[in-house]
Amino acid sequence: MNRKIPIAKPNFGKEEETAVKEVLESGILASGPRTKQFEKEFAKYIGVEHAIAVTNGTVALDVALKALNLGPGDEVITSAFSFIASGNCILFQNAKPVFADIDPRTFNIDPSDVAEKITSKTKALIPVHMFGQPAKMDALKEIAEDNRIFLVEDAAQAHGAEYKGQKAGSIGNMGCFSFYATKNMTAGEGGIITTNDTELAEKARLLINHGQNQKYHHDTLGYNYRITELCAAIGSVQLQKLDEFNAKRRENAQLLTQGIHRLHGLTVPYVDKDVTPVFHQYVVRVEENYPRSRDELADSLTEKGIGVAVHYPIPIYRQPLYQKLGYGETKCPNTEDACRRVLSLPVHPLVDRKDIEYILDVLKKVSL
Ligand SMILES: Cc1ncc(COP(=O)(O)O)c(C=O)c1O
Repeated sequence: MNRKIPIAKPNFGKEEETAVKEVLESGILASGPRTKQFEKEFAKYIGVEHAIAVTNGTVALDVALKALNLGPGDEVITSAFSFIASGNCILFQNAKPVFADIDPRTFNIDPSDVAEKITSKTKALIPVHMFGQPAKMDALKEIAEDNRIFLVEDAAQAHGAEYKGQKAGSIGNMGCFSFYATKNMTAGEGGIITTNDTELAEKARLLINHGQNQKYHHDTLGYNYRITELCAAIGSVQLQKLDEFNAKRRENAQLLTQGIHRLHGLTVPYVDKDVTPVFHQYVVRVEENYPRSRDELADSLTEKGIGVAVHYPIPIYRQPLYQKLGYGETKCPNTEDACRRVLSLPVHPLVDRKDIEYILDVLKKVSL
């Protein structure tokens, strides 16, 4: 009998249920004590002064960039090997996304290509900590400082990940996280901005709450991007479990790697010596010399009940939206190669040893 192993599954217990019930009974559904508590706890966990909770990770990126006052003519460098929001948050500012290529081993933005893409118009750099492995932050920070540009970490996939002992989201001017259902910790939907910069934090707070500095007094143009108390309450509980979840992801990743590294034509995830990864995804590369194509392998695993996914099949600049915007000539060869080769396997904390044995067993059989 086939097992059914989803590629992602939210991991809730009685604690989340109780927290939600308490919020419902309190009658305070927005801008209340849960949001404040969650922000305080998250800031402490990441090791920053401020955390501003918002409706989702896309909004976190949008607000972070708005707080930097970006506008038409400004360029922002990011990776095209990412979820669409990493590029769109730049378009929301009417600024221009400039795509730097990735390191094929880590899938993270390559500092040497970033340096090549810097111009006098570059105002910010957004490294994405792909699949839960922080980007080369020392080199990126140096580039940002030398060129006096802002460094905004897209840490949507990297809750709890570390670079040289520092948490992702605490290294740049700002960090942006997502609490979408499949993330290492979830709030249902939700996001948060982290920063040590009090001025940026204050701007972000105004932006997410109608530009309101006193009740019904609006100084600047703002939005309603506030998180709900329900989501904040779930987020608080999940944060307490995050280290345990991440440890289980690392354990699962290690077991997968032990089993897969000998299979001909599959390359297991490379972990940089400077990082503690959190394996938001466990991603193998299906190389040219593998007996099947990536998509054939994906189909075989799906048939056997193993949830797989391709993160991501199309570089952001190749999306129809970006082609219409004039990115037809853009090329990042390592990004394009990764899009053809990557396959994510289940690694989340609800995957147990029997599941791993089953995945490895099926993989061995289909890799012949
Ligand atoms: C790298 C990256 N950036 C941004 C986002 C946007 O987050 P959200 O889905 O919460 O809007 C996501 C996740 O979905 C992501 O993976």
